[in-house]
Amino acid sequence: MDYNEFREAGHKLVDHIADYLQQVPLKPLFNPVEPAFLYDLFNEKIPDAPESLANIQRSLDEKLIPYCTHVNHPGYMGLITPSPNPAGILSEFLAAALNQNLGAYSIGPSATAMELRVIRWLNDLIGYDEKAGGNLTSGGMTSNFIGLKLARDYSTNDTAQHDGIKEDWVAYVSEERHVSLDKAVDAVGIGRNNLRTIATNDQYQVRIDLLKEAIQKDKAKGLRPVCIIGLAGTTNLGAIDDLESLYEIAQLENCWLHVDAAYGGGMLLSNKYKGILQGLNLADSVTIDPHKWFYAPLDAGAILVKDHKRLNISFGMQPAYLTDQSQQKNERYQFYVNGFEQSKRFRSLKIWVSFHHYGKTKMGEWVDNNIAHAKHLHQLAINDPGFESATEPIMSAVCLHYKAPRLTNDQNKQLHFAVTEKIESEGRFWFATTIMKGKTWFRINPVNIYTEMHHIDELFKTLQAYCKEKVKNYLVNQV
Ligand SMILES: Cc1ncc(COP(=O)(O)O)c(C=O)c1O
Repeated sequence: MDYNEFREAGHKLVDHIADYLQQVPLKPLFNPVEPAFLYDLFNEKIPDAPESLANIQRSLDEKLIPYCTHVNHPGYMGLITPSPNPAGILSEFLAAALNQNLGAYSIGPSATAMELRVIRWLNDLIGYDEKAGGNLTSGGMTSNFIGLKLARDYSTNDTAQHDGIKEDWVAYVSEERHVSLDKAVDAVGIGRNNLRTIATNDQYQVRIDLLKEAIQKDKAKGLRPVCIIGLAGTTNLGAIDDLESLYEIAQLENCWLHVDAAYGGGMLLSNKYKGILQGLNLADSVTIDPHKWFYAPLDAGAILVKDHKRLNISFGMQPAYLTDQSQQKNERYQFYVNGFEQSKRFRSLKIWVSFHHYGKTKMGEWVDNNIAHAKHLHQLAINDPGFESATEPIMSAVCLHYKAPRLTNDQNKQLHFAVTEKIESEGRFWFATTIMKGKTWFRINPVNIYTEMHHIDELFKTLQAYCKEKVKNYLVNQV
């Protein structure tokens, strides 16, 4: 180990990252090269000859950085990956150096204590009492999987852990769910066909009347409801289901209530919109992703559980090779008997450091700024008769539709894709498209500490101009 080389390269890397963060607004956000070009660029054999870190840095400058999607660019308003807060970036560097493995207490004692504290902070934000527990995970997908596994085990009287699923079980969720929930019901053996996807109302919240109907129909067929899944912040639009009604139904059916707040959990930091996730504390388990709207670098998801004992009941297996011979007093918290993962990254460090460095109020201001961006964009859209906005934004997600009444449905869909692709290729903005209630939408979602109001104005002007231009092209080609 050449500590001098490490020190020199490390200092340069930090300078490099600081320059990168400062200069990124001037770079193209996305470089629209062909994928084949990139696969070729990395078409290399396993290197054998040692190379200096300085040299490797130069290669990264040539081959990696120019083709990244720069989520630190203020124009990034796309799939929910935040601009990571700088204190969190430094924390990841330290976490890698310490390489604490939170699977077992003995490979990360202080890190275990920090992880438990951060989980407690998240539980406090939800409003869970002292009985609550949880785990930090790789993200919303894993947390939803764990939530569904807890639901399955609870609702089968803790037989499914041992026997698998023997009967016909069903789970219920809004049609606006994230796909991770379909994968989760599959993974825990409930099966995708047994996930009832319930239509939403005009605010994109699950329809309680239809949910009740679906449950009655299933019960009449002899099926057993095991889990009701609520959404507190849909991926498309940030819509929030009526969590209190979902809780009442779950109580009545004696089944688990899991709430997916992977994105919407960020609202718990908001200074302006406190209490908007009313009823979240009633859920048996909740998914929140600090690597979304807490602006933590990937990865940091969380599964929070109202009764921490359920984690051990679902995951408490203790093989001989993991016995901790120093655990005489039984005071060491072992994540491996309270979670799915064995080796487990030290995820809490960046969250702990971010809260200490910025403070909760400041992080709440970032959230409120993004909500203000969304509301402003919505306002611009409803002032223009050419556009439709799906709903008044509650969170930072806006879905806009360009009406173009003279185009066919298919042309309209292609228009949305073509405009999005053109904007991506220019590198000033990046956002996604989606389909809701049969219509295609631009899905714009700033989860970004660098976005300012003028970026929103500029984006909307660009949308107006390009949508008009595309319509003209379609009509000219039709003639
Ligand atoms: C509501 C919701 N749940 C779950 C997920 C999956 O989270 P992850 O990508 O962290 O696995 C997402 C991702 O956007 C989401 O929006």
